[in-house]
Amino acid sequence: MNKRIITIRQGKKKFQHHTRSSAHTRAVAKIFAKSLRGGSVVALSGELGAGKTVFAAGIVAGLGIKKIVTSPTFVLMMLYAIPKKNQKRFCATQLCHIDTYRLSHGKELVDVGVEEYLGNKDTITIIEWPDKIHNLLVPQTVYVRIEFE
Ligand SMILES: Nc1ncnc2c1ncn2[C@@H]1O[C@H](COP(=O)(O)OP(=O)(O)OP(=O)(O)O)[C@@H](O)[C@H]1O
Ligand SMILES: [Mg+2]
Repeated sequence: MNKRIITIRQGKKKFQHHTRSSAHTRAVAKIFAKSLRGGSVVALSGELGAGKTVFAAGIVAGLGIKKIVTSPTFVLMMLYAIPKKNQKRFCATQLCHIDTYRLSHGKELVDVGVEEYLGNKDTITIIEWPDKIHNLLVPQTVYVRIEFE
């Protein structure tokens, strides 16, 4: 089935969206992206195939990045440049997309230099499967959970 419930927790605020297609989830993410700024970290959780990468692609589009988003499952981390014309608005120059699915230990991410991006004031970061590295998450992290309805 195509129905999903997306729960967004931003500090004490909680928002819920019911979506009925990947295009719908992407549209919700695109609007959500407008609230992100440099230093924002988005922890994106949900089962296999829930739509985490679809949501990440919506954020990428919302930031004005014209790139096709694939799951960085095999590369751990992808960096995208935010177009110059949008950098001021988002107070950020780049987006870092991390997928910890194949990670055996959070230390591997530290080894590839993730701390240079995570919570950095110039960077917006999205993390799929964030539970594995919860100790690296900054206090301002926004939690997005996608569930099958
Ligand atoms: N409402 C919906 N929202 C998001 N995706 C949907 C929805 N309905 C159907 N889909 C489909 O579900 C799949 C979601 O795939 P996606 O790669 O985004 O999941 P994922 O959570 O990143 O999985 P993985 O854990 O394997 O990385 C896509 O094939 C998409 O078309
Ligand atoms: Mg994925």
